[in-house]
Amino acid sequence: MTIARMLTIDHLLAMKRDGEKIAMLTCYDATFAAAIDRAGVDIILVGDSLGMVVQGRSSTVGVSVDDVAYHTACVASGLERAFLLADMPFGSFHNESTAMENAVELLSAGGAMVKLEGAGPMIDIVHYMTSRGVPVCGHLGLTPQSVNQLGGFKVQARDEESARQLLEDARAMQQAGAQMLVVECVPAALGKEVSATVDIPVIGIGAGADCDGQVLVMHDMLGLGSWAPKFVANFMPGSDSIQGAFEAFVLAVREGRFPAKEHEY
Ligand code: KIV
Repeated sequence: MTIARMLTIDHLLAMKRDGEKIAMLTCYDATFAAAIDRAGVDIILVGDSLGMVVQGRSSTVGVSVDDVAYHTACVASGLERAFLLADMPFGSFHNESTAMENAVELLSAGGAMVKLEGAGPMIDIVHYMTSRGVPVCGHLGLTPQSVNQLGGFKVQARDEESARQLLEDARAMQQAGAQMLVVECVPAALGKEVSATVDIPVIGIGAGADCDGQVLVMHDMLGLGSWAPKFVANFMPGSDSIQGAFEAFVLAVREGRFPAKEHEY
């Protein structure tokens, strides 16, 4: 009998050190989780993107901790190997005690780590959580929960000053104990610099080919998204099944073929 081993943060750190690209997809239920897991995806994110692709909202604002916990438990029951990351929704981490309480709910549902958006005041909250045993992934660049403040889903950190700030935020997140970063929609050169600056894995989405790993929303890479930003590739053409599309994504990430230049800012 083969005993499958769940990936740990140590595996992911070793992948970064060894220059092996990390493949990550979002997922929200057990059946797709099992297929994604079989394809060799390293990290599954139960993203608050579920608000858009599962609940049909126009943004991720309005997703609750209970929603993410429910889908995290569904996904956890389909997994044998992948590392499970659960998103903290908007308003669920604005102070230390709320953040702790909600992170505990998501970890109890089966998450191995929680992800939260933003820097600034979030740095202290991340430090509070990590020093109390909560594994945290930061999310910098385009932070979709702030879409109403940002005035839309736009590429971030295009100018020198905001690029410098993002690099500083990445360092501060690592210092606060974050063990992974997602960086969304920034120029490829900045994605590369962030990945080279911190020791923790940096997973890009619209952040160029030189990040330590890549993430896409599952519905987008299956060609089901209602909109297709520049950084999305549809892996269904050329694959004979959904399972094949997941496998093609893993291979393209591992071999550095995704993202291509056309997906970069
Ligand atoms: O919610 C989500 O799916 C995400 C990814 C876009 C990284 O945060």
